[in-house]
Amino acid sequence: MKRALGVCYYPEHWAEDHWADDARRMAEAGLSWVRVGEFAWSLLEPAPGEFDFDWMDRAIDILAQAGLKIVLGTPTATPPRWMLDKYPDMLAIDTDGHPRKFGSRRHYCFSHQGYLDECRRIARVLGERYGGDDRIAAWQIDNEYGCHDTTLSYSQSAQTGFRDWLAQRYQSPEALNAAWGNAFWSMQYRDFDEVDLPNQTVTEPNPAHEMAFRRYSSEQVARFNAVQAKELRTWTNAPLLHNYMGRELDFDHYAVGADLDIASWDSYPLGFLMDRIECDDATRAAFLRQGHPDFQAFHHDLYRTVGRGRWWVMEQQPGPVNWAPWNPAPLPGMVRLWSWEAFAHGAEVVSYFRWRQVPFAQEQMHTGLLRTDASDAQALAEATQVARELAEVPEAGTASAKVAIVFDYASQWACEVQPQGADFDYFNLVFSAYRALRRQGVSIDILSPETTDLSDYALVLIPGLMLLPEALQVAMKAAQARVVLGPRFNCRSAEFRIPDQLPPATDLVDAKVTLTESLPPSASIAAKGGGAIIRWWEHIESVATRHVEAVDGQLILSGDRIQYLAGWPDDALWNLLVTDWLADANIDALKLPDSLRVRDTATHRFFFNYGSETVTFEGEKIPPAGVVWHARESAG
Ligand code: GAL
Repeated sequence: MKRALGVCYYPEHWAEDHWADDARRMAEAGLSWVRVGEFAWSLLEPAPGEFDFDWMDRAIDILAQAGLKIVLGTPTATPPRWMLDKYPDMLAIDTDGHPRKFGSRRHYCFSHQGYLDECRRIARVLGERYGGDDRIAAWQIDNEYGCHDTTLSYSQSAQTGFRDWLAQRYQSPEALNAAWGNAFWSMQYRDFDEVDLPNQTVTEPNPAHEMAFRRYSSEQVARFNAVQAKELRTWTNAPLLHNYMGRELDFDHYAVGADLDIASWDSYPLGFLMDRIECDDATRAAFLRQGHPDFQAFHHDLYRTVGRGRWWVMEQQPGPVNWAPWNPAPLPGMVRLWSWEAFAHGAEVVSYFRWRQVPFAQEQMHTGLLRTDASDAQALAEATQVARELAEVPEAGTASAKVAIVFDYASQWACEVQPQGADFDYFNLVFSAYRALRRQGVSIDILSPETTDLSDYALVLIPGLMLLPEALQVAMKAAQARVVLGPRFNCRSAEFRIPDQLPPATDLVDAKVTLTESLPPSASIAAKGGGAIIRWWEHIESVATRHVEAVDGQLILSGDRIQYLAGWPDDALWNLLVTDWLADANIDALKLPDSLRVRDTATHRFFFNYGSETVTFEGEKIPPAGVVWHARESAG
């Protein structure tokens, strides 16, 4: 697959006499993919069963004649207004019981059978018309599942679906009562129809109840996607994909990805820094116009796994966005840097959102490659430069990683259901480990908890995994790698009970968690040798080798090849731990300047300067917002 650039285009937003010029300018800029159609339902089907494909046919003709390959979206993230007349109850219901109404997008409940059938129908109509058209070189299903908090819905359809799901899972109300521990607070049910959704309770609902609803809701997203994927596959051999949104964790992306051919994600580094990343003001100020130096990389590595090796950036930020609390502009050079970073992590395509800034409706403050008046915006020159440069670097694929981190969606839900410390967030814990590794310049793979083979790795970190699958346990045992478990590892059963054998409840490491405590931001536990435990601290019984202790002598890290980490390390402690683990595993670590990040392909080393000063490293001078690469010595 040839690496390439693309762009998201909405022909329906512009007078038709602009289309040919737009297509020509896209091709001249070196773009080769264009995504269309993902929000165009009301234009394709203005009234139920009345279709207007002529405009789409003409747009496809014009774009394809300019040499562009097309990604066609199914428009199911934006049901037309008439759909509501047919199914007034298809809207999602929020946790307070209010409908999430028409007038923006994603106004549907994943559990609604009528709407699901409509989505199958529109996928069939599109598949019939365009499935055999080889100008449509890929299909996107829906748009950003879960975005705008749309995975969880407390509708009547969700309630019915959830009761059926419970009946299948437990078979009898008695089994459900026993599994959830409903003897507590007289919560026993006599019938599945008595089980409500876990919202609007007086105080917290049973965490087992909430966790079951989180699993059910995630499965509805996967089912919704699978229905369209199955329909499209009867009409087309082109690859199917979805565009996931950064740090959108309410459904299991691995499960959705299993039914697709390519994973893609939407990368808005400056929006994320303002909106989706916990960091101090100094970090936010330092990276205001660059984005967090590790957040994009984390997602690149995640989606490489979700897509089983095939992944894209479907939407790349080109300038200020409209949706974060503040919307700064990138430093000149950052659009190029973000694009190259994706390619260095193995992306096949980087596609910019959007072609031309639109002067009306919700996203009028969102920049594009063109301004509203169709003149070139800053990002167009950077995209054009990347297109030229792609020819210079061989397509060698991304380097194989010796280090891996396991990332699990259910563990995120578990920590949301039962945080126990106000700032305990699973993503954040995993991301803190990822950052520490990346500061040392190593390549990292992110693995699903369903992984069955760890034999390629020398170091595997598994922080916060709520429930250890048997196959992963077998893989850990068989591996040669140093494996680090904890904190909060294997601490709940599938039914959200504390395991009978105290956590980590595995014979692979000699450790027993006898007490857990969470710590407010004002408290920390200093480690001998530097750094500290913050947020979460476990008291451990262990006779295994002691590696790191708190200043009072309590254990922080113990074990042999497989080790247990008994708390949430601050950045300083993570640095010390990771330095030791990498050295023990004979993995070369780099002493990177603060703002510099590195990623290797099989043949080249790439340097990304997220800072606003020039840095020099390995003989290269890397300007602010600069990308530099050279051939790797070991690659010959
Ligand atoms: C994405 C979405 C796009 C557009 C974009 C603006 O989340 O998929 O349709 O809204 O954000 O940044």
